Amino acid sequence: MEFEQGLQVITHAVNRTIARPLTEIEVALLFGAWNNLTYDLIAERSGYSTNYLQRDIGPRFWKLLSEVLGRKVNKTNLRGILTHLAAPPPNPQPQVQRSIDWGEAINVSTFHGRVEEIEKLTQWIIQDRCRLIALVGMGGMGKSALAAKVSQLLQGQFEFVLWRSLRNAPPLDKLLSELVPFLSNRQDIQAKPERLLYWLQTHRCLVILDNQETILQAGNYAGYYQPDFTDYGDLFQLLGESSHRSCILLTSREKSAEVGTFENFDGAVRSFSLRGSWEASLALIDSQRLVGTHTEKRQLCEFYSCNPLALKMVSTSIQSLFGGDISAFLEEKTLVFNGIRRLLDRQFERLSPVEQTIMYWLAINREWTTISELQVGIVPTTSRASLLESLESLTWRSLIEQRSGKYTQQPVVMEYVTGCLSKLGQVSGLLEPI
Ligand SMILES: Nc1ncnc2c1ncn2[C@@H]1O[C@H](COP(=O)(O)OP(=O)(O)O)[C@@H](O)[C@H]1O
Ligand SMILES: [Mg+2]
Repeated sequence: MEFEQGLQVITHAVNRTIARPLTEIEVALLFGAWNNLTYDLIAERSGYSTNYLQRDIGPRFWKLLSEVLGRKVNKTNLRGILTHLAAPPPNPQPQVQRSIDWGEAINVSTFHGRVEEIEKLTQWIIQDRCRLIALVGMGGMGKSALAAKVSQLLQGQFEFVLWRSLRNAPPLDKLLSELVPFLSNRQDIQAKPERLLYWLQTHRCLVILDNQETILQAGNYAGYYQPDFTDYGDLFQLLGESSHRSCILLTSREKSAEVGTFENFDGAVRSFSLRGSWEASLALIDSQRLVGTHTEKRQLCEFYSCNPLALKMVSTSIQSLFGGDISAFLEEKTLVFNGIRRLLDRQFERLSPVEQTIMYWLAINREWTTISELQVGIVPTTSRASLLESLESLTWRSLIEQRSGKYTQQPVVMEYVTGCLSKLGQVSGLLEPI
């Protein structure tokens, strides 16, 4: 058996189980295992670090293959196992007429990493048959890119795939007047929520609604709709509660109230909190040809919580201001550059006054902070209930992180808020020392 045949067996098996192709690094691992190469040699050939291959991606990939092939797979026994496996039959796709409208979906022809996220979302959409999924995360984390990638990989499992952005805040009637005719093959033009539900019950559809945060209120607790858009909340509640055969995939910077309420009920409504991606971030800074050691690159990614957009923006600045030298940039210790500032300005404008005060306080405190510490520190005095609500809201907005009852900010957010504070020059008026 040749390596190419073995590769084909694995490609089929992985695609059949989790509906995605192998990544470049996985193929490199397979090739290495097939030819009995050491991790050092595989690292040298593929350009990844030995440590990453041996301790991170390697073990995860062997675990995935063990699940996919139904037996324990490791680097040593892979070739033996493959030699005993005949190539599986091709994946039978449902033979249906498909209608696809990608709208303004982001182009994902260059897409890196996110292997685990794709697996999990595929599990939720295909195996678990979730009806409503919210992909939530800070601006620039890669929500739209991931939603587009997953939808592209899974399109064969649906009769209809439709992508719409809510960025320009379309009134619900307008959105329904596009959705209903499309999903009914132009048999129905009634722009009503019940009609949409009917067609979602009749056909297996994947509807992606990008940028849900546009229709949510700014300056209030996260998750509530603007006055003219409360009917969207009713619609999402209907689509989450009622049984149908389809999946609605939302992307948003904030989790909306009905998703928060229903996600714990029967598992048909779920939210996925998207964090940064090492692989995407490293690939993005590499594509800008930045110069630095592996440690410096990791440090740079960490500063920006592996936020792909932040790293894209900052890489351009490093290229133009520091000739691509990461260490020179890191020495400057000025993490917040123009593009990221604008990104964070937009996030910050949306916060309620209590949320803003908490953000200032967490930036000053810099440590993991408990609610009690916040309560003592914040002036004017704020009730525990209001603090709790605001903290939850900030978590929903992906601006703060929570760990065993303590809160802090992502590094780049902290740097930004500190910058705002020094501009405001009113630190002492706002806060009391701990
Ligand atoms: N996995 C990825 N691989 C390559 N580029 C990515 C990836 N994730 C995000 N990006 C890029 O980062 C930028 C921000 O991603 P986007 O999906 O628009 O973020 P969000 O929707 O969360 O605001 C885009 O330019 C996108 O192409
Ligand atoms: Mg987006």
